[in-house]
Amino acid sequence: MPISFDKERRIFKIDSLNSTYAIGVFRGEFLVHLYYGKKIPDTNLIHTAFRGGFASISPLTASTADDGYFSTDIQPMEYACNGSGDYRLAALSIKDSEGRSTTDIRYVDHKIYSGKPKLKDLPHTYCNSDDEADTLEIYAVDKFTGAKVTLCYTAFKNHSIITQSVKIENTGTEAFEIEKVASCCVNFPSMSYNMVNLYGTWLRERTAQTRHLAHGIQSIASKRGSSSHNHNPFVALVDDKGGEDYGDAFGFNFVYSGNFAIDIETDYMDCTRLVMGINPIDFTWVLEPGEEFQAPEAVMAYSANGLGEMSRTFHDFYSNNLIRGTWKKKKRPLLINSWEGSGFSFDDETLVRYARQAKELGCELLVMDDGWFGVRNSDNCSLGDWYVNEKKLNGPLSKLIERVNAEGMEFGIWFEPEMISPDSDIYRAHPDWCVHVEGRDISPGRQQYVIDMTRQDVRDNIFNQMYDVLSKNNIAYLKWDYNRPISEPASMSLDKKHQKEFFHRFILGTYELMDRITSAFPNILFESCAGGGGRYDPGMLYYMPQTWCSDNTDPIERLRIQFGTSMCYPASSMGAHVSACKRTGLETKAAVALWGTFGYELDPKHLTEEDKEIVKKTSALYHKYYDLTHYGDLYRIIAPTEDEFKCAWSFVAKDKSETLLTVIIKNRTPHNFLNVRLKGLDENKMYQNEADGEIYSGALLMNAGINLTLGGDINGGMNFMVYFKEVK
Ligand code: DGJ
Repeated sequence: MPISFDKERRIFKIDSLNSTYAIGVFRGEFLVHLYYGKKIPDTNLIHTAFRGGFASISPLTASTADDGYFSTDIQPMEYACNGSGDYRLAALSIKDSEGRSTTDIRYVDHKIYSGKPKLKDLPHTYCNSDDEADTLEIYAVDKFTGAKVTLCYTAFKNHSIITQSVKIENTGTEAFEIEKVASCCVNFPSMSYNMVNLYGTWLRERTAQTRHLAHGIQSIASKRGSSSHNHNPFVALVDDKGGEDYGDAFGFNFVYSGNFAIDIETDYMDCTRLVMGINPIDFTWVLEPGEEFQAPEAVMAYSANGLGEMSRTFHDFYSNNLIRGTWKKKKRPLLINSWEGSGFSFDDETLVRYARQAKELGCELLVMDDGWFGVRNSDNCSLGDWYVNEKKLNGPLSKLIERVNAEGMEFGIWFEPEMISPDSDIYRAHPDWCVHVEGRDISPGRQQYVIDMTRQDVRDNIFNQMYDVLSKNNIAYLKWDYNRPISEPASMSLDKKHQKEFFHRFILGTYELMDRITSAFPNILFESCAGGGGRYDPGMLYYMPQTWCSDNTDPIERLRIQFGTSMCYPASSMGAHVSACKRTGLETKAAVALWGTFGYELDPKHLTEEDKEIVKKTSALYHKYYDLTHYGDLYRIIAPTEDEFKCAWSFVAKDKSETLLTVIIKNRTPHNFLNVRLKGLDENKMYQNEADGEIYSGALLMNAGINLTLGGDINGGMNFMVYFKEVK
């Protein structure tokens, strides 16, 4: 059993493939965190929590005051509460009916069972069969308010993954307000860690940044209504003497697409506490007697071998236990998207021409991006009017799709369901449907407002419009965009007592709509997008197996973005296209895009005959390397943020029988030597370089490396893709 309870010591031991997480019940009521790290066999762990130095600055818990024994300010509390003597980061704060925020939960019971429960109305990871995982539910109660808290942990046998979620029920007689509810609260007995997080903005999403933990609180968060371009809901703590391939690495990722906060506090004992959950700013939730609140899920990945293995742990887990549906294991079509090539300027003839020319280049699916609906010919109107602009397309959509299909191509479409243009029929009919504060100005973003997803009538309207288009046409792919953050957060449908529930209700509404649409059309391939990669998170991946990584398709810039993204998201989820940008040649652009869900983002009519030959070859590479890049293991070899000149990564087949090494030269610094050491191979296997037939051992390739010098200077924009296959 991955989860056990040592009755004598009163210790829960939660074992994943290679990690152990342990919680103790002190004096039968205090939940204390005892350990998280490499798997250990025994439960003799009480000593890990013992901390001396009781002083008056740390109040004692009343029931232990006589023997001066227990202070929540000193102990590594498993789910720290606000106001009852623990002055570090709290995981939970409940305001009682008289407006007081003291919270104090005590253990009452627990349950251990096989499998993993579903999270109501929220995206979550799952078991393919119950024997994949065990779940522990710990029940703890705040007697004063009647808040019953369920801490739910699942440990996976085949992955070094533990998930946690939290549910709160009001078992009392008065309503209370949840002011803060984190999804995990993890304590470490040291601060010798580097924190890795992914920061950025539009066109520069998810750059990995590393800093040493310092005394105080270090935080990342979003208040934008979405997980955001600025900070991804991911953090890793890695041993400060470790790194990509060495040392303990703990990854935390939040299965949520709305406002989040990840706070890490290092305290006066040089200990660390990490708290991850819904951002408590702009959040409260009123819970009436008998009601319950489900907080989203936290995913925790562990590796004893650095960030690289931690990332591969996330990749495998998300590919098998988060991404769902028809496209989970089905080969994704090689697509061409009209956006960067044509913007809003297209008609039926343009698109049929795209299809014809793209087919010759090896494409399989044409995506008609923004601009097909209402009267939209620029970004200043029609969002929310999801009916086909038949004037622009010279007839019904079905006719256009028939013509595209006749060219041997499938057809994809674009929607931005959570938005509304002030210049739209829907806004003129329902001005109250946009997110706004009555009487205040509404701040436009890209000339558009956000539609109120908290409302069932709004969601029904959008669902019906989308259903109409999708059910009447042969649509194989849908790109779900979201192009601005929320401002003036409020809903006309919420009273003042519930107005601060807006942000969470918004994302619940989005999830409900996504669930309805994706369930109604299980064969459509969905790709989420948010002005590029502004909502690239596990919540989205639960509904849609791939995400458009960034509107920045410059291959050199993409390196930083894709490296950062790979910290926790698998290559199969990463939308990456070859565009017309001029920075490098087509081969380099393709080498970078082959890391993800490959495609093109250009007008084929601008390609020269020579270009077309290159594109045909790169399309063939997509098919050739599909299994390796989509089901193999990713190894980051040289990070673009650490080397000015070059960047390298590889994919290695699970059975270590083949590998594809990609090296990109980033700039024109004169260099005359390029040697790269491979990773992840079997030392004892022999591998043949497909290009020149040379045979090397895995040991040689990983230790001596491969010399890629082509004589003289190695100039910018050059790429190397070297494929090795095992020879027996
Ligand atoms: C932002 C997306 O990231 C682009 O790919 C494109 O779909 C535009 N929106 C369309 O408005």
